[in-house]
Amino acid sequence: MRAVDIIVKKRERGELTQEEINFFVQGFVLGEIPDYQVSAWAMAVLLNGMTPRETTDLTLAMVHSGSVLDLSGVVPIAVDKHSSGGVGDKTSLAVLPIVAACGLPVGKMSGRGLGFSGGTLDKMESIPGFRVDLNTDEFKRQLKDKGIVLTGQSTDLAPADGRLYALRDVTGTVPSIPLIASSIMSKKIAAGAQAIVLDVKVGQGAFMETLDKALELADLMVRIGDLAGRKVVCLLSDMNQPLGSAVGNALEVKEAIDALKGGGPADFREHCLHVSSHMLTIAGKAKDLGEARRMAERAISDGSALEKFRVLVQAQGGDVSYVDHPEKLPKARLVEVVESPRSGWLAEVGARAIGEASVALGAGRASKSDQIDHAVGFLIYHKVGDRVERGAPLFAVHAQDEARQTAARDQVLGAHLISNREVAPLPLFYE
Ligand code: URA
Repeated sequence: MRAVDIIVKKRERGELTQEEINFFVQGFVLGEIPDYQVSAWAMAVLLNGMTPRETTDLTLAMVHSGSVLDLSGVVPIAVDKHSSGGVGDKTSLAVLPIVAACGLPVGKMSGRGLGFSGGTLDKMESIPGFRVDLNTDEFKRQLKDKGIVLTGQSTDLAPADGRLYALRDVTGTVPSIPLIASSIMSKKIAAGAQAIVLDVKVGQGAFMETLDKALELADLMVRIGDLAGRKVVCLLSDMNQPLGSAVGNALEVKEAIDALKGGGPADFREHCLHVSSHMLTIAGKAKDLGEARRMAERAISDGSALEKFRVLVQAQGGDVSYVDHPEKLPKARLVEVVESPRSGWLAEVGARAIGEASVALGAGRASKSDQIDHAVGFLIYHKVGDRVERGAPLFAVHAQDEARQTAARDQVLGAHLISNREVAPLPLFYE
């Protein structure tokens, strides 16, 4: 077999066999198929798609590109969550401590920022010392001893996904349903999850811009989960506007800490409670969503969720004084509060433009090797449907230099559309 023939077959809309998929994935991981051929193949997949059978084969090839974690002796049930990626989506930072505080041990392997969407690892690294490179033994030990882990995907688990993910980020091949489904499900299966809550984002700030596309992705992932013998719940949530207020790494960590203290923006808090409730229910820790919700709320109000976050930070070498004093987190040199140019109702708070502006400020990567700046980003003060008055604060830009501050201000101002007519708020979840 030759890689070029497989690329050409996909370019010509052919259906790849299981052998061809295995050959391609193995060749990539072994370094026998170079990045440029894998990039061309990924673009052919993006343009021409894959059948559910091909996607399942791709997922399993990626799972078996490395070892598969067995958590059966470590936790009674291995539960996990995953978001398909969005702007201001710092949900894992709050949800993991909430469910862990409810007595459900949770270990998660997360990713870095991808395109305009932020990444959990980048956010957690705003806390000095926090390690995201735990090996499998450390992962298991911490999960057993502390009941909470949040680390990077270890290099021996689904290594094909780790490499493909980084390549897709810089070759315009992220928004492909088969590539996203296989990426997410291979990670989850390889990491040993038996019950998985997936949060598929829908809207202009998500990889799936329409409900139809998001449903297709959700169905595909549930199907792959079924075939692999995993319980999967898939939520469809809005990503037309940023989740919560903060966009940018350290700003989002602070907002997650606020939520764990019972504060923070209402939409973000509600989102976290909803995802936590599903995790507690699917794992059998609560008998139904109502009971799960009460448990999650209690974990916040009695301080146990915040305490779990401290435990997590400490266990992974992070400086816990940043949890107790989030004002110590990295700060940008310039902070500008931008006012509303007119009165009216917010018709749009464009998540994609805000996500792209935050990458341009330095909060994300334009290429694989870029360093990110943890301090920069935005605080977005309003939601679609809110009434705003001329001169009222609309958002704040946190930047390191004047040129990027000005560009970011213009872009984010342009992302706020103000209508003369009342506008209905956007739902938090669709299904
Ligand atoms: N999240 C993932 O894990 N993979 C993707 O491809 C997109 C979002």
